[in-house]
Amino acid sequence: MTMTINKLEIENVKRIKAVKIEPSAKGLTIIGGNNNQGKTSVLDSIAWALGGNKYKPSKAMREGSQVPPTLKITMSNGLIVERKGKNASLKVIDPNGQKGGQQLLDSFVEELAINLPKFLESSPKDKANTLLQIIGVGDQLAELELKEKELYNQRHAIGVIADQKEKFAKEQVYYPEAPKEMVSISELIQQQQDILAKNGENARKRQNVDIIKQNYEFKQAEVNDFKMKLKQAEEQLAQLANDLEVAQKDAMDLHDESTAEIEKNIAEIDDINRKVRANLDKEKAEDDAKLQREQYNALTTDINKVRQEKTDLLTNADLPLAGLTVEDGQLLYLGQAWDNMSGSQQLQVATAIIRKLKPDCGFVLIDKLEQMDNQTLETFGAWLEQEGLQAIATRVSTGDECSIIIEDGYSVENENHQAKPAPATAPSWQGGF
Ligand SMILES: Nc1ncnc2c1ncn2[C@@H]1O[C@H](COP(=O)(O)OP(=O)(O)OP(=O)(O)O)[C@@H](O)[C@H]1O
Ligand SMILES: [Mg+2]
Repeated sequence: MTMTINKLEIENVKRIKAVKIEPSAKGLTIIGGNNNQGKTSVLDSIAWALGGNKYKPSKAMREGSQVPPTLKITMSNGLIVERKGKNASLKVIDPNGQKGGQQLLDSFVEELAINLPKFLESSPKDKANTLLQIIGVGDQLAELELKEKELYNQRHAIGVIADQKEKFAKEQVYYPEAPKEMVSISELIQQQQDILAKNGENARKRQNVDIIKQNYEFKQAEVNDFKMKLKQAEEQLAQLANDLEVAQKDAMDLHDESTAEIEKNIAEIDDINRKVRANLDKEKAEDDAKLQREQYNALTTDINKVRQEKTDLLTNADLPLAGLTVEDGQLLYLGQAWDNMSGSQQLQVATAIIRKLKPDCGFVLIDKLEQMDNQTLETFGAWLEQEGLQAIATRVSTGDECSIIIEDGYSVENENHQAKPAPATAPSWQGGF
């Protein structure tokens, strides 16, 4: 059940002599007045009454008063909270007439609602954590942030190696004229042996020429010796002459092939193979570098995915105010960090967050509302109404926007104040500031 304040009756607390206020059930109730009249003393009194003795002012009793402070707050459900007597002891009576204590008050009073400065002064990280706690994604976001950091570190390490490998590959020598594969020496030896075999055959043919020639000479002698066999011998001679001519012709076309080229190649083979090895090394280095770069790129994809998950997590969360988000552990409103928000924006953001912290707490105390101009006040008031939130605020002013004026410790109803009707359409803060 959402609790708001129906009535306040305070006497002799700090600057207050006697104050009685019935705040609007929802929206803005502005306590106006000049400086030093007792406005903040009203908020301090509420904090003490509802928040317990840790909020007791150091000089709680008004100077010059003959009677101790009395405070009485009536809540929307009929609960009555009183402090009175010499020790300002607490008395809580619930709607059924049963007695209660601070514990009952703590069950519906949000600490930051009665102590807004505590939120305003908290660190940027604490503010963001408060918001994450409300929207219930703190753990998931922390997990994603951890994951993102791990992937980032991993990618960085791989990136350094990729750079080194690329540099190494670039520095390797390359011989564009060298063959793709190592040259084989056995093939060249085979070629050499074939040629030597052919040359042997040639030598044999040359020997044959010599034998025929010897026969011819022998037969010529026989012709001389045996005239009777002259004709036969002449025929043989003619035949041999013919043979000789053929053999000689054959021998004329013969020429020996040189092995000089192969010998040169054999001599060069070491140099060629050195170049081939160098080229293979370079290709390997390039492949290595490429693989490393591919791993780096894959990690970039992973990091972007985690970042998108983070964005989605917050985009889909039920945020207390349009335009409010968390980025890198910082609260952002309309893209601005806390120290870049205007004073009035800070108040609005704080109120919106505190509103969600304890749903049963239907009120919030805001001191020094003078930093809002009239237009902003109106938009803020309309938003509070739409949220069903009661805000009790002080403002150095005696203008029509104040429903109560505090003067010398006394509350005076402002006759010129008119409760503004709620606007027909829901106010949009995003455009308003
Ligand atoms: N116990 C006390 N008895 C009497 N006066 C006190 C006591 N405690 C504080 N004061 C005085 O009350 C004044 C401040 O009161 P309070 O803060 O409520 O004023 P205010 O209306 O909020 O002023 P401002 O507009 O400057 O914020 C100071 O002058 C302070 O000295
Ligand atoms: Mg003040």
